[in-house]
Amino acid sequence: MKKANKTIIKNVAYDYKISDFLTQLNKGAFLTTQYAGENNVMTIGWAQIGIIWRKPVMMVLVRKSRYTKTLLDGSKEFTVSVPLNCDKQKELAYCGTVSGKNEDKISAQKLELLDSEKINTPCLNMPGLHYECMVLYQTEIKLSELDEIVNDTWYQDGDTHTMYFAEIVNTRLVEK
Ligand SMILES: Cc1cc2nc3c(=O)[nH]c(=O)nc-3n(C[C@H](O)[C@H](O)[C@H](O)COP(=O)(O)O)c2cc1C
Repeated sequence: MKKANKTIIKNVAYDYKISDFLTQLNKGAFLTTQYAGENNVMTIGWAQIGIIWRKPVMMVLVRKSRYTKTLLDGSKEFTVSVPLNCDKQKELAYCGTVSGKNEDKISAQKLELLDSEKINTPCLNMPGLHYECMVLYQTEIKLSELDEIVNDTWYQDGDTHTMYFAEIVNTRLVEK
């Protein structure tokens, strides 16, 4: 007999299992945006969690070519979902190569949305850590001020990242 999947959702501190966050980030995490009735998910591999302005802050880097940037600049909020104890590499690869400009990735990958508690943007309903983030500050990387080797390695095509510094207003652990 198949056991019913019981979902347990717990509120946790922003730094709960932070080393698991970093380990999984290396393989990818999901950044979800919502604006003007539309949702989109993209894969991220670069992010930081820390303290700035006495607040817990998540910093993510989004290139200007990403559809995510359009939604993020409209809503000024996002969620980050970090899968733990489940294999989402197929979904991460898809959301990391296909653009929401052309596809509804959420339907295509049968990703389930889960309402957030403190912001309008949902997270993804999967086992793992889920961060609700509200943008405090954003700035585009200035190539003229960047280390030359980093510049040559990452920005030869001029597709610069915008760095979004966002307050982590809620963190939840989803277990199934
Ligand atoms: C493992 C992995 C990590 C990635 N990390 C980032 C990232 O941190 N920032 C970024 O702008 N793009 C990153 N990408 C690329 C975007 O996920 C990809 O271009 C995506 O298709 C953009 O989707 P969108 O146009 O719907 O926003 C990553 C891709 C992969 C596979």
